[in-house]
Amino acid sequence: MTFDLFDATLNRILAAGDYAGFKKALIDSNCDRCGLHKGRTNLVVDRGSPASRILVIGEGPGAQEDAQGRAFVGRSGQLLDKIMAAIGLDSEKDLLIANVVKCRPLDSEGQNRAPTPAEAQTCFPYLRRQIELIAPKVILLLGATAFRYMDPNRKDFSMGKEAGKFITLPDYPGIEAMVLYHPAALLRNPNLKADMWEHVKALKKRLVEMDVMKPAAGKAGNF
Ligand code: URA
Repeated sequence: MTFDLFDATLNRILAAGDYAGFKKALIDSNCDRCGLHKGRTNLVVDRGSPASRILVIGEGPGAQEDAQGRAFVGRSGQLLDKIMAAIGLDSEKDLLIANVVKCRPLDSEGQNRAPTPAEAQTCFPYLRRQIELIAPKVILLLGATAFRYMDPNRKDFSMGKEAGKFITLPDYPGIEAMVLYHPAALLRNPNLKADMWEHVKALKKRLVEMDVMKPAAGKAGNF
């Protein structure tokens, strides 16, 4: 855990000794460490189960997430739930879903945008603490933003080449990580669904090998 000598609020949040305490401290903090707080309705910490051994990392909250204060509850989230159900995983029970940034990044037209490097870096201590407290066995990186910030050695990459790969994250060598397409990419380009199905089948095989899940039946490619 990295404390910042000059940021008492951050230190208090990071010092929480369990996940529920961390989440409450973060929400109660009314965090204003970057400019994203100005456009926020709710700070979005996660969705799912902190007891899960699978941590899913997305980019940042969208409109629905900002309104409800829960991660991945809009169209992308509904598709994510279907994809996971297709391999027998229940998002609410079997996953903890978080994001690189906890507040919605908006562009000048009021549309979602990717977080800037400064926003991502400012928010990163929260994601790091989530990883420490959850201690997942597997991390799923949804899309280029999650991949870029969790593996800073990757400068130029194409999701077309990286999606579906199991990787080792420099800061978390003991946790198995996998790069997956962000569900929003599948909503934009449904042709990617066939590849995604192959990727999540490989994921399921690995999770069964690791004894993270039982070889329960999914709903075969039904997303
Ligand atoms: N997209 C993300 O990356 N995260 C969310 O929580 C919702 C949509």
